[in-house]
Amino acid sequence: MNIKKICVLGGAGFVGTHMVNKLEMAGYAVRVLTSKRDHAKNVSVLPKVEVVEANIFDSSELSRHFSGMDAVVNLVGILNEGKAGRVDKPMARRGDFHEVHVELPRKVVHACAATGVKRLLHMSALNADPNAPSAYLRSKGLGEAIVRESGMQHSENENWYLNGPKFVHGYGLAVTVFRPSVIFGREDSFTNMFARLLKIAPVLPLASPGAKFQPVFVEDVAQAFVASLNNQATFGQRYDLCGPKVYTLRELVDLVARITGRNSKIINLSPQLSYLMAMVMEWIPGPKLMTRDNYLSMQVDSVCDCEFPRIFDVKPRALEAIAPDYLSQSHHYHGFRSAAGR
Ligand SMILES: NC(=O)c1ccc[n+]([C@@H]2O[C@H](COP(=O)([O-])OP(=O)(O)OC[C@H]3O[C@@H](n4cnc5c(N)ncnc54)[C@H](OP(=O)(O)O)[C@@H]3O)[C@@H](O)[C@H]2O)c1
Repeated sequence: MNIKKICVLGGAGFVGTHMVNKLEMAGYAVRVLTSKRDHAKNVSVLPKVEVVEANIFDSSELSRHFSGMDAVVNLVGILNEGKAGRVDKPMARRGDFHEVHVELPRKVVHACAATGVKRLLHMSALNADPNAPSAYLRSKGLGEAIVRESGMQHSENENWYLNGPKFVHGYGLAVTVFRPSVIFGREDSFTNMFARLLKIAPVLPLASPGAKFQPVFVEDVAQAFVASLNNQATFGQRYDLCGPKVYTLRELVDLVARITGRNSKIINLSPQLSYLMAMVMEWIPGPKLMTRDNYLSMQVDSVCDCEFPRIFDVKPRALEAIAPDYLSQSHHYHGFRSAAGR
């Protein structure tokens, strides 16, 4: 397989921007599909990157844009469901989990098959499973199953979710699936959200304080994708991606508070109060800080059983080593470094 041209879905997002930069630096020609050109400003300036406005949920548009590509990377995902847009404004739709995490991957593998694309990298999430406690993880699990099925030579899998008129045949696609824990980096929504909350709230009630995470650096995730592209040993495989250290949510928030020099009072909530808080937050208009589905996702620890896959030759970086650079104001940063003896 000689991969030169890659189409990236979700290439304008947080992970996507890093991924597209790395792909371009590695010499690939990259086509980024985005619902709005403005979203892709950070990558559109790169010489080997072409940004195309497209409705990725339209199969014929997908096929048109996959045509001539050697590989596809699908990074599209949502943590919370948004209201469906108006039918006459498909580009404005954010969609629900099933549409984004199950139907879109199905369309992607069909379009790969229709256009002769042989290589597919798919972004899933740690703990994705059709039987997971949250709708987010269930939908990611179903999407993963569809994508992995497309990697088979024949349709061997009789799972109920793949049957029916939209049954995905084994296309013999060379598929690799990635399942990261929470991803951190300068533009992440996780550590930055807590930094913002700590800035405005003298008292911070914390839902699910004992939930465990193993945050992984965005550059390390992007590197794993890029390294797998031409590596045949990764075809048909799926990889859990985690950083070097496990934290409880409370430990993570304490760390963000230390880095940013905030001394808000953080109150651990019981499971019942955590669920109640998630329910209340769902009713508050605007971006969702937490939902009941997020609460359910956190019932499973987002930690890896094994170290970062050696095949990618990545030494995963720790949150403590990276986050001070992007979270802190300079005087707090210096305070943190000196407290850490560096
Ligand atoms: N961030 C994490 O901690 C984390 C952890 C585990 C797994 N993941 C997975 O990693 C992937 C990337 O995450 P991210 O943090 O980079 O997300 P992000 O910043 O929100 O970017 C997601 C991209 O997907 C596209 N997208 C999302 N919903 C869409 C919709 N309904 N219609 C059309 N396009 C849509 C957007 O493209 P345009 O705006 O350009 O149209 C956006 O660029 C996702 O699949 C996510 O589930 C993330």
